[in-house]
Amino acid sequence: MRKAAVLAAAAVVAAAAAIVVRQRLREAKRWARAAAVLCDLQERCAAPAARLRMVADAMDVEMRAGLASEDGSKLKMLVTYVDSLPSGDEKGLFYALDLGGTNFRVLRVQLGGKEQRVIKQESVGELFDFIAAALTKFVASEGVDYHLPEGTQRELGFTFSFPVKQTSISSGILIKWTKNFAVDEMVGKDIVAELNEAIKRKGLVMKVSALVNDTVGTLAAGRYVDNDTIVAVILGTGTNAAYIEHVHAIPKWHVHLPKSADMIINMEWGNFKSGHLPLTEFDQALDAESLNPGEQIYEKLTSGMYMGEIVRRILLRMAQEAALFGDHTPPKLETPYILKTFHMLMMHHDTSSDLKTVSLKLKEILGIESTSRKTRKLVVEVCEVVARRGARLAAAGIYGILKKLDRVTCSADKPRSVIAVDGGVYKYYTFFGQCMESTLRDMLGEEVASSIVIKPVDDGSGIGAALLAASYSQYLQDDEILA
Ligand code: BGC
Repeated sequence: MRKAAVLAAAAVVAAAAAIVVRQRLREAKRWARAAAVLCDLQERCAAPAARLRMVADAMDVEMRAGLASEDGSKLKMLVTYVDSLPSGDEKGLFYALDLGGTNFRVLRVQLGGKEQRVIKQESVGELFDFIAAALTKFVASEGVDYHLPEGTQRELGFTFSFPVKQTSISSGILIKWTKNFAVDEMVGKDIVAELNEAIKRKGLVMKVSALVNDTVGTLAAGRYVDNDTIVAVILGTGTNAAYIEHVHAIPKWHVHLPKSADMIINMEWGNFKSGHLPLTEFDQALDAESLNPGEQIYEKLTSGMYMGEIVRRILLRMAQEAALFGDHTPPKLETPYILKTFHMLMMHHDTSSDLKTVSLKLKEILGIESTSRKTRKLVVEVCEVVARRGARLAAAGIYGILKKLDRVTCSADKPRSVIAVDGGVYKYYTFFGQCMESTLRDMLGEEVASSIVIKPVDDGSGIGAALLAASYSQYLQDDEILA
């Protein structure tokens, strides 16, 4: 009897052990699968130095092609009609409208010349459809401090962060929408004329005196504080760069010669594409299902609009193929764009020993109740692969511009080159910013790197636009108005 009981107990133990072994085996298999997906991803996203040089060379070649003829390249290399940048002497009351980043804003900037610089700066947030109404309300709420002589038009710098073919400093045709904007009837229209009309209908005495891309505003704002600023880069929801070009290096530009020998070029580098870009099946699927398939490929690898979404797609694959989050794929993980780059950076920057933030974000955003530390660590690694690739490619893009400008070799008389950078990804994704800067330093080598400065510039699309409205004011000779 006793023997039978012992045997039965042994059988139960053996069965339980078998279950545990099976579970461990299954677990090990899942991990092996997840690790294989990660390993494959790391390989495909790798951007080693040699590849980055090829990307930079391709950027340089495309820049030249885009400058040579209108449709010569994926890079539009748009002439901005900004042929002089703020000097610091600008004075007067100006307004700025900022459309195309995360929010729509109206700003009022009082410029006080060299001594006082920006005296006051205020803003309100509103919606696109209510631009003119928002301006009217903003102006109506103004106190006596902001009085302009009778009959004077208020002047507005309009930052419109999309590809625009400018026809003058204050007019331009929308080529296409990017990021998550898509109002089809606006494409092909002069957006300033549309805005001026809306302003007029509201009875407001105001007019756009400068239409600028956010990169151009950032270049102006950068130049305002540092005279060696020659390039501006935005790494935010979208990505782009602008720089100062010699007029004689723009063969396609034969309308009229500007007053100085320079012209700011809005590259629209988000649309850059090259066979050297490390693309994965995740990027291809994201592109195919995007609002603009086949376009903005560089932007889709490097900017805030997309990096979180790439991470989501990778995690979904790991959930489906390796049951990373348990036997069932979390339904929310299947929702496109649910995971923002902002969430990605919070998880990536989690330094707590048990990765508390990762656990919290997975729960809050994707409804994943509980995860092991090992799983959370894997999630961080996925974020790292995607961010590192984006940052290294951004560095290669900057290197390409510096190469085009002949600033990547050493010589005693080489001037300092300052690159003004703005945008949420650069500002808040510390890993991204640091990785981009160290990659650029490595590419340049120590000696050249010592003359290249990356400078964070805040609010180029606000202050920069107001500064350009001042530089191109219709009242430039009128001291009373610009006092
Ligand atoms: C737009 C650019 C803009 C950049 C950064 C891109 O999607 O095409 O015009 O400068 O985003 O905002």
